[in-house]
Amino acid sequence: MDNSFELDSGILMNPKVWEASGHIESFDDPLLDCKECKVRFRADNLIQKYDSKINADLLNEEEMMEIIKVKKIPCPNCGKSNFTGIRQFNLMFSTKRGVTQKNGTNIFLRPENAQGEYINFLNVLRAMRTKLPFGIGQIGKAFRNEITPGNFTFRTIEFEQMEYQTFCKKGEDEKIYENYKNLGIEFLKFLGIDENKLRFANHEKLAHYAKAACDIEYLFPFGWGEINGTHNRTDFDLKRHQEFSGKNITYTDEQTKERYIPYVVESTYGLDRIFLAILFETLCEESLPEGKTRKVLKLKPMLAPIKVNVLPLIKKQHSGKAKEVYSLLKRNFMTSYNESGSIGKRYRRGDLIGTPFAITIDDNTIINNIVTLRERDSMAQIELNIDEVVQYVKNKIEK
Ligand code: GAP
Repeated sequence: MDNSFELDSGILMNPKVWEASGHIESFDDPLLDCKECKVRFRADNLIQKYDSKINADLLNEEEMMEIIKVKKIPCPNCGKSNFTGIRQFNLMFSTKRGVTQKNGTNIFLRPENAQGEYINFLNVLRAMRTKLPFGIGQIGKAFRNEITPGNFTFRTIEFEQMEYQTFCKKGEDEKIYENYKNLGIEFLKFLGIDENKLRFANHEKLAHYAKAACDIEYLFPFGWGEINGTHNRTDFDLKRHQEFSGKNITYTDEQTKERYIPYVVESTYGLDRIFLAILFETLCEESLPEGKTRKVLKLKPMLAPIKVNVLPLIKKQHSGKAKEVYSLLKRNFMTSYNESGSIGKRYRRGDLIGTPFAITIDDNTIINNIVTLRERDSMAQIELNIDEVVQYVKNKIEK
């Protein structure tokens, strides 16, 4: 969207923010302990893993307990079925703020980026002299006391979110919501994720703030898992922040003079989960002639952390010129320089970490300023004049 602004809000904010958002009251996981081996589990995960046909999201505490008892669900750790009752554990990490330990007040590490965007709504509105609809987005860390982290970076206690909030007039929200749901699929495809491994999963049980919510799930080797969410959060968040801060958060339509609290449509992405999905999509082992194999990470060039690998063919003869080329390229891209080992091994190292281009410096470079550029996926090699390399790589990254 044109009218979009980026933010870097606080990780530690006034604890009232989390009272207003409802996180202190209801950001809980239903946990139980195995009485035999003392390992702790999330009741909904326990049920879902035992019988994937049950949608544990729709169950309340009593219903979950009933299913665990009737089906005699075994502890995944010790195999016995002897659990405590379910207790709700808040997912937020807290710390103390204050001069002395005794008098310190509890503050929280943010469990989501979104609230930082809501409490800065007025700042952005005024500073950017903008009008509805407009968006505020940020990329940043979120922290949750997850009791069952795992599946690589799928569930961690510290993770990166990319959250984008569209503020709009009530009535425009449903169209924007549908638009962001579809955009989610398009964006994930654009990153290189196979469309056939993506699906929408509508929330049947809605969070306290939502009028509609839908996830996009990816088919990981360990099953379907949420990587994105679109939420129609209505005017819940801004209304609550107005109430808890005592500050007027209404928007005035300049033409009609109408005053109201905007609706919010949220589009959220878990960066770590998406990158995990991309790793599953792009890391492969290929057969080469003569019975050899290579491991290659086929990241789109724009996603590769290092774009170019500069390699002198023979260290003693070509490293001086190679360092000149390296200096030229590193001003434009993340570039690595690698002079040890055979050229084949150096290609393989770059392939494995997804570096899309390798540039070899040899006698032809010293005499004619010509380098050899090797493309990671096709392994095809072309010759380029040094002056052409930057533009060539730029064009490939933009694709
Ligand atoms: N502001 C809304 C919100 O936070 P969420 O579904 O709880 O919604 C958004 O989280 C995204 O953050 C999820 O779609 C997921 O990709 C990612 N995410 C949530 N918990 C995570 C965790 N423990 N580890 C890694 N990523 C996580």
